[in-house]
Amino acid sequence: MSERSLTDYIQGHAERIERELAGCLPEEWPVPGVLRESMAYSLLAGGKRMRPILTIAAAEACGGSAEAAMPVACAIEMVHTYSLIHDDLPALDNDDYRRGRPTNHKVFGEAMALLAGDALLTHAFYMAAKTARERGVDAGRVLAIIEDLSVYAGPRGMVGGQVADMQGEQGLTRLEELDYIHLHKTSDLIVFSLKAGGRIGGATDAQLEALELFGTNVGLAFQIQDDILDIVGDEKKLGKQVGSDEKLQKVTYPYFIGLDGSRAKVERLTELGKAAIADAGFPKPERLLQLADYLMKRDH
Ligand code: IPE
Ligand code: IPE
Ligand code: MG
Ligand code: MG
Ligand code: MG
Repeated sequence: MSERSLTDYIQGHAERIERELAGCLPEEWPVPGVLRESMAYSLLAGGKRMRPILTIAAAEACGGSAEAAMPVACAIEMVHTYSLIHDDLPALDNDDYRRGRPTNHKVFGEAMALLAGDALLTHAFYMAAKTARERGVDAGRVLAIIEDLSVYAGPRGMVGGQVADMQGEQGLTRLEELDYIHLHKTSDLIVFSLKAGGRIGGATDAQLEALELFGTNVGLAFQIQDDILDIVGDEKKLGKQVGSDEKLQKVTYPYFIGLDGSRAKVERLTELGKAAIADAGFPKPERLLQLADYLMKRDH
């Protein structure tokens, strides 16, 4: 039997993740209706679901299952979605469209957008904890996943990166400062996604290190590609308005080294990431390698 194509693999897992996300907040919980609606509005608006897919692919690369990885995959998508809701707020990037529809605060107001983000972030930890209770993954490994999530998404991870991004608007002069922003606001959650999958699949310490190196490089490439698409992308495909970075006077890779230089950098980083995986003795590394190439060529 031939292997499923990568596009079938991505589509199949994205659909499955969406079904799981739709059922993540127990119906019997007494949650205010408008909060449920506001959370679901952004969480179920589409999106590529690349981070949860990377988690599943990393688990599978180590010989683990998508089934065991699913609650953590949902947790990551919740953290990512909260970060987008808050990123779009008037106090941050002030954007009107996201995932093909008006941004959360445009529909529910700023107070509810803040609270829906808070709720998604908190509920993510509930989802991650389920991995031990419902999927039989060793509690010590799940604790390591939860610790990683708080580090990679928190003050020395994604939130720290977002703060540096806000400060950077006032004028960066060095590429290393931009790397700090990109590595934290974007790579960190991607690194977390991969390492969490690895832990679920039983990765060795050396394999976790390889996943970290892969995620750092592919994550940086992902944000540079995001910056490129903010200039040359198609709004319909992206589901968000282009030109946001220029409007906010953000310093980006294209700003520093131009579009061609940025494209070459995306390719170089992708190769570096793939090299880290290729040498780490994973039983089934193929999907991770294919996903890195897919992300490099993405147009949305
Ligand atoms: C957008 O992430 C924000 C960045 C960190 C670049 P994605 O491009 O993964 O957005 P969705 O999830 O597909 O909407
Ligand atoms: C967002 O970066 C990073 C996080 C949300 C953590 P951007 O501000 O470039 O993302 P987009 O372009 O709005 O999706
Ligand atoms: Mg931003
Ligand atoms: Mg933004
Ligand atoms: Mg952007």
